[in-house]
Formats: sequence, C-alpha cells, structure tokens
Amino acid sequence: MKLEPRTFAAKYSERQVMARLLGIDIGTSGCKVVLLDSDTGLIGSASAEYPISTPKPLWSEQNPEDWWTAVSDCYRKMGSPEIHAIGVAGQMHGSVFLDSAGAMIRPALLWNDQRTVAEVDWMTSTVGREELLRRTCNPAMTGFQAPKVIWLRNNEPENYRRLSSVLLPKDYIRFCLTGEKATEVSDASGTGLLNVAARDWDHELIEMLGLSPSFFPKVFESDEQTGVTNGTGGFPAGIPVFGGGGDQAAAAVGTGAVVPGIVSVSLGTSGVVFSAIEAAKYDFAGSAHTFCHANRGWHAMGVMLSCGGALRWYRDTLGAGRDYDTISVSASQAAVGADGLIFAPYLTGERCPHNRPDARGGFLGLTLSHGQSEMDRAVFEGLSFGLRDCFDLLGGLGARAEAIRVTSGGSKSPFWVQMLADVFEAPCQTLEMDEGPAIGGALLAGVGLGCFDSLAQACESHVKVRATVAPSGADYAEARARFSGAFAKING
Ligand code: XUL
Repeated sequence: MKLEPRTFAAKYSERQVMARLLGIDIGTSGCKVVLLDSDTGLIGSASAEYPISTPKPLWSEQNPEDWWTAVSDCYRKMGSPEIHAIGVAGQMHGSVFLDSAGAMIRPALLWNDQRTVAEVDWMTSTVGREELLRRTCNPAMTGFQAPKVIWLRNNEPENYRRLSSVLLPKDYIRFCLTGEKATEVSDASGTGLLNVAARDWDHELIEMLGLSPSFFPKVFESDEQTGVTNGTGGFPAGIPVFGGGGDQAAAAVGTGAVVPGIVSVSLGTSGVVFSAIEAAKYDFAGSAHTFCHANRGWHAMGVMLSCGGALRWYRDTLGAGRDYDTISVSASQAAVGADGLIFAPYLTGERCPHNRPDARGGFLGLTLSHGQSEMDRAVFEGLSFGLRDCFDLLGGLGARAEAIRVTSGGSKSPFWVQMLADVFEAPCQTLEMDEGPAIGGALLAGVGLGCFDSLAQACESHVKVRATVAPSGADYAEARARFSGAFAKING
C-alpha cells in the first residue's frame, strides 16, 4: 500500500502532515541514514564506512563517489523504504571540486586537512583580520573551504582552470540526489565566504580573493526545499530534498539546542559546546565560531579538537590496558582536583578557547604521591575544564544555560556526566535518542514539509530527556584555577 503524507487535523493544526523523513549524515569515517516517522519517531537506520586518505602529512582527502555509494547502500540495506522527504547533513568545511559537466576534478579536501596554512595567511593579510571577522563573523582557518579553493589555484593550476563549481560534502550528495547545486546557511557559514549576518555569499569578499562567485551554489535556509530526487542511486524520483545542515547544526537540532537556554555538549573525538544565540555576535579572539543556525537564527560554537580523542589516546598509551569503564571507576577513587595534578588536553593543537593549531598538551605537577587514579581523574578533569572554558566564551556571545544536553560517545559515562554537571555548575541531561546529525536532517525535512509548526516544535515532539544529573556540590574552583594557567605554561 502506498503511504501518503496524511493530514492530522484533530491532533495538530490543518497544515500538518505525518510523513516518513529520511535523514542522511555524511560523517568523516562513514555515513549514517535514519528513517523517522514524524509522528512516532525513529523507525530505521543504517550505516556504512568509507576510507580517508592522507597522501602527505597533514593532508586529508576522500573520494566523494564513496559517500554516494555508501548513501545508496544504506538506503538499500534499509529495504528501500517509502519516504516523503529527505534532509542532508554532514561533515563541514570540505571542498568537492567539479568541472562544467559536473564531473569530479580531484579528491575532496576535508575539514581536518591542514595544508592551507600559507593560504590562510594570504587571506588574512589580503583582506585584514578584522575585516574578515566583520564580514564573515570568523577569522580564516585552515579547515575552512575558501583557503582550499585558493590552494587549488596556487598548487594545481590545471585543475583550477577546469573548476566550475565547489560544493560542501553533503551538498555533493544533494547534487547526486537531485542534479541541483545548492547549499544552506549553516554549512555555508563554514566556508569563510558567507556574510553570516546577512545569510548570503559575500560577493565582494569572493572577488577580493580573486575567486569567481559562480563557483558557489545558491544558498537556502536549512528547512527550505532545494530540489526533488531524480531517481538515481536507487531512490524514488520526485521526493523533495530540503536544505539540512552542517553536522554540528544538524546534531544540535537532534538535541533540541534550537532555542537559547539549551546548550549542547558533544563528547566525540572533538568536544563541541553549542548554543543558539539571538544575534550574529562574534568572538574578537576568533576562537569560538559564530555561524548561521538551522533555525533561521545563529549559533555560537566552541570546538575543542581533542576530547574523546584525548581520552582514547590516554587509554591506548598510559591507560595500562584498561577500558573506559575501568578508567572511570579508578578516576572516581581520586579526590576532586586529582591531588594537584593537571592534564592539559591540547594534543592535536586547539581551536577553542585557544586558537592555536600548534598547541601541545601534557601532565603538569606530577609528584611521587600521584598514582594511576590521580592520572585518570586529571584526564577527565582537564577535558571538562576545557569544555567549561568554551562555554564561558559562548556566554560572552549571548549563550545561557538553562539545560545542558550531553551527547555522543562520552555521554555513556555516568561519572563524566556527573563531573560535567559539577564543573558547569548546572544540571546535565542525557537523551533517549542520540543518533547525531542524521536526526537533525530528518527533522529539518519535516519542518520544510509542514509536519511541524516550527523547528522548536519538531524538537519538543522528538527530543526526549533520558536522565537529568544535578550538580553534587563537589567544588572544582581551585582545580579550575590551576588548570587555567596550564596552557600558557606549556605553549607560552
Ligand atoms: C565543525 C567541524 C567538524 C566537522 C566534522 O566546525 O570542524 O565538526 O564538521 O565533523
């Protein structure tokens, strides 16, 4: 039987429909596809992995065709279900280079590719740091898309001559699904070329950098329809595809961080503190990002590059062969403040609160009295204090925390969630559905299709709190004060 989106006049207002919403997330190690019933919630999901290549140190590339193969494999693995709308989300900042026939010119450069230091310096001196902040709300950064296009011009002139358009990773999937070249505001904010306050390309800036405005696709809001499927990749034809979002904005939709007051803290490889804000205010130091949010407003975000990544490093090196649970139990046996031992978590450079790609981390203040438990605890404390530093920066941009929602891998540790409630001095919540950006993509498609009155209402219907952890009264003030001096001691 063919399912039609149905009108539920009795339950909702006239214009609301019930529909099956497909959310796609193009992650860095793999893609995830979820199927959401707009009324009842998650009804299916699938994931598939693909490789990353590092042809030279600090380079990070992927073949966008692998993303497309993985997306259509996932849809097939889910049984090619009937769907009414699609929303796409994915890793931000990357560059997919296409020629005038829509063919790939070379592998895509990803968000974590660091080859563009010279291009970032050139952008900053050509435009001026303050002018870049004024126009885009952010400084130029090696991860962003703009320096990658300039790198192509400087280093692969043959490829650059063929260049006709540049797409962000998830927008390449949109192009495969619909044949349309389009993007949306949240992901476009991470190119370094969007006027974030005006929510459109800064054509003057693009021309100042000697790039062609025609390289960059039309910008939509995240809940706007950008095209319909053309029947490729095993998908049915004629399904509307909505803007979706960069992975951070889409993940925030999945946590309900679409209204000021709800802050999301994601404990993945990197740690991200994220809040909706009411105006496009930016951080003069440039270490917190101000981007367009998927809710038609803005968000501020602090990205700590080594969070779960630092914990994994610790487990695999100094962790004495123990798993995360055993390390947590041992950490809980040391006193608050780890007897003066500090862990500075800057193991892969840092973005926020210290914008220093060259930053280093370390243990500070070791004595013979410190054992494994103090080291274990110092690691959790260092990560939590770094996240609190990011949160404090966001506070200066208008973020406030009535509820803190903790998600991703680290949220499975009750010990860490309790420590965060104590360090943030605010209740922390974990969620029933912690499926990441794909859920946000599906909810945005639902808003666009008319299943919900607003994004806030979509989140109210689908984002459910599993547990709320109140601060225990543990006092971290002295330990935080010690931690705040650590960065300068190591990095000058
Ligand atoms: C956000 C960022 C990462 C990437 C990959 O600024 O760099 O979240 O989007 O996940």
